[in-house]
Amino acid sequence: MAEEQKDLEVLLGSEERFAPPEEFVKASEYSEAAIYDQAERDFEGWWESWAEKLDWFEKWETTLEWNPPWAKWFQEGKLNASHNCLDRHVEAGNGDRVAYHWIAEDGPTRDVTYADLLDMTKRFASALKGLGVEKGDVVGIYMPMIPETPAAILACARIGAVHNVVFGGFSPQSVKERMEVSDAKVLVTANANMRRGKPISMKTEVDKIAGELPELKHVVVVERREDVETPMQSGRDLWWHEICEQADGDCPAEPLDAEHPLFILYTSGSTAKPKGILHTTGGYLTGVSATHRMVFDLKPESDVFWCAADIGWVTGHSYIVYGPLANGATSVLYEGAPDYPDKDRWWEIVERYKVTTLYTAPTAIRACMKWGREHPEKHDLSSLRLLGSVGEPINPRAWVWYHKVIGGERCPIVDTWWQTETGHMMITPLPAITETKPGSATRPFPGVDAQVVDKHGEKVEEGGGFLTLRRPWPGMARTLFGEDERFVETYWSKYGPDIYDVGDASKVDSDGYFWIVGRTDDVINVSGHRMSTMEIESACVSHERVAETAVVGAADEDTGQAIVAFVTLDGTGEEPEGFTEELRAHVAEKIGKLARPKRIIYADDLPKTRSGKIMRRLLKDIAEGRELGDVTTLRDPSVTEKIKEKMAAESD
Ligand code: WTA
Repeated sequence: MAEEQKDLEVLLGSEERFAPPEEFVKASEYSEAAIYDQAERDFEGWWESWAEKLDWFEKWETTLEWNPPWAKWFQEGKLNASHNCLDRHVEAGNGDRVAYHWIAEDGPTRDVTYADLLDMTKRFASALKGLGVEKGDVVGIYMPMIPETPAAILACARIGAVHNVVFGGFSPQSVKERMEVSDAKVLVTANANMRRGKPISMKTEVDKIAGELPELKHVVVVERREDVETPMQSGRDLWWHEICEQADGDCPAEPLDAEHPLFILYTSGSTAKPKGILHTTGGYLTGVSATHRMVFDLKPESDVFWCAADIGWVTGHSYIVYGPLANGATSVLYEGAPDYPDKDRWWEIVERYKVTTLYTAPTAIRACMKWGREHPEKHDLSSLRLLGSVGEPINPRAWVWYHKVIGGERCPIVDTWWQTETGHMMITPLPAITETKPGSATRPFPGVDAQVVDKHGEKVEEGGGFLTLRRPWPGMARTLFGEDERFVETYWSKYGPDIYDVGDASKVDSDGYFWIVGRTDDVINVSGHRMSTMEIESACVSHERVAETAVVGAADEDTGQAIVAFVTLDGTGEEPEGFTEELRAHVAEKIGKLARPKRIIYADDLPKTRSGKIMRRLLKDIAEGRELGDVTTLRDPSVTEKIKEKMAAESD
C-alpha cells in the first residue's frame, strides 16, 4: 500500500498532463484536431455528417429549426431507431455479431446476436401492438439488467411508442408516480431482480401499485427466475415468453418523424417533483452514435465495449442501448454487483470477454481502489485500450489509479461530462487528440459551445463560475413531458432564452479546459446518481413522527456526496430507539434505497432566517465540518451550536 501511495504521488504532479499514446493515435480514425475547426465553422453541417451515417426512410430537408428554446432537428426526415440499431446491421450481413455478452449475476451467460435481438424486439413489438399500444402511447419499463430490457426499449421505438424506463432500484411508489404522470398503458417488468446472488421478487413489488393506476391495462412479466413465486392477475398480467411466442415474428419498423418522441426519462430537479426529460428520435440517435463512435474511438468489428451503468439511467440509455447498437458494436451487459461473488468480478469479466473499453463512474473506481489492487492484478487486463468516466467529478487520485492500475498506463481516459437533459456527451476528450489532465473533462465535443459565466452571465475566461451551453445540439431535451413552462423556467430563463443553464458550477483554466465542480441547485450527486434534496425531504416529513427536515449533500470520499438529513421530531424531540432505521426504511419505501440518508441528525430546531427560511447552506457547512461564518441573521443563532455538538457527539 505504501508503495502504491508513492507511485500515485509521483504521477500526481500538480500540472500532470497525459498526451494520447502514439500507438493509440496511429490506430485511430479520429486523430486530426482540424475536426474541431471544421465543426466550429459549420456546426449544423457537422451534425448532418453524422446524421447521414444513419439509415433514413426519408431524408430531412431542414437540418435545424431553432426558436429558442424549441429545437427541431432533421425535419421532414423519417427514420426508426430500432431499424437503425438492429435491422440495418442484420441486412448488412452482421446478424451473427454479438450485440450483448450477457452475464447474469448468479452465473449463467448468454450471447445475444444482432439477429437474436432483432427477433426478440420484433416479437415484443408485435405483442405490444396486440395489447393495444399505439404510436405515441407511453410504455413503462421497470426491469433488471437482462437482454429483454433493451429488446423492450427497442420494441417501443419500433412502433413509435414512448418508453419510460424507471431504474430497478427505485421503489414501487416512485414507479407509480412516474407511470401516473405519463399515463402509461403497459408496464414491463420481471418476476425477479438479483441482489447479491439472491432473487428478490420484483413483481410482488409492482403489485403494490399496479392496481392504483387506472390507465395501466397490462403488466408484462419476464420470467427471470423460475423458482420465484409470481402471482399473476388474470386479464391484466401476462408472461413475456407467452405473448412473444404467440406474436407475429414480423413487425416492420414504423417510419417516424425525426422529432417523434423516443423516450421520457425522469430525473431529479430542485423541487420534489421529478422532471420527465423528453428526447426525440433523429437528433438523439445522431448525437449518441456520433459521441459513442468518436469518444470511444470505436472499432465495431473488434471492440468489446462495456458501459457498466444501469439501463435505468441516461448513461445506460445512451451508451448501453442506443449508441452501441446504432454503431453495431458488441457490448457487455452485466446484471449485478461489482463485488459479487467477489471483488474481482469486473476484472474477471474484462479478462474473459477481452473487454477493450470500460466506461464507469468515479464512485466505482474509488470502491475498487479501496478494495485494493490485488483484485485487478489477479487478471489479465491487457485487452483494455480505453477507459471512460462519467456521472460525477473524478478526483485526480482516482483518475491516476484508474490510469495506472486498470489501464496499465497505456489507455487514455475520457472523462465525459453530460446530463440526462443533454442526451449525450458534451464536454469530453477525444482520446487520440486531446491531452488530458486528471480531474478535467477537458474541452467541448466538436460543435458544442460551452461557456463558464459569472452570475451576470458574462463569460469567465479563466476561473470559476456557472456552466452554460450556447448553441443547440441534436440530442438536447426537447421539453419536460407535459410541462413546457417548467422547461423554459428551469433551463432557459436565467441568462436568456437561447442559453441553456446547466445547473453545474465549473472552472475553466488558461488552456480553456473545463473542470466541473458540482451542482449549484438542490440536487445531490450520490455515486453518480442524481437525487433531489426536496424529494428526500418530502419523503422524510411524510413520516408521521417527523415535524421538519432539511437534507443536504455532504462531501464523501467514497460516494462523492452523501445524504445527510437534519430532522426535528414531533413531540419530545428525542428519537425513539431504532428510529433512524425506521426513517431510512421509510425513505426507501417512498423513493428507493439509494435515497436513504447516510446520516440522520436529530435537533430541536433547524437554523432559520427571521422570515423562517431554513438555512441549508449552514447545515451543509456543519455537515462538512467547516467553520461557520456570520450566523447573526438567524432567528436563533444558538441552534447551530447545538447541532454541531450533536454531530460531534455522534462522530465519536
Ligand atoms: C454530473 C449523467 C463531473 C453533473 C450522465 C451533471 C459530472 C449531472 C460528469 C448529470 C463528469 C456528469 N464530471 N460531473 N464527467 N458527468 N456529472 O443527468 O453534475 O444523471 O449535471 O447524467 O452529473 O447527471 P445525470
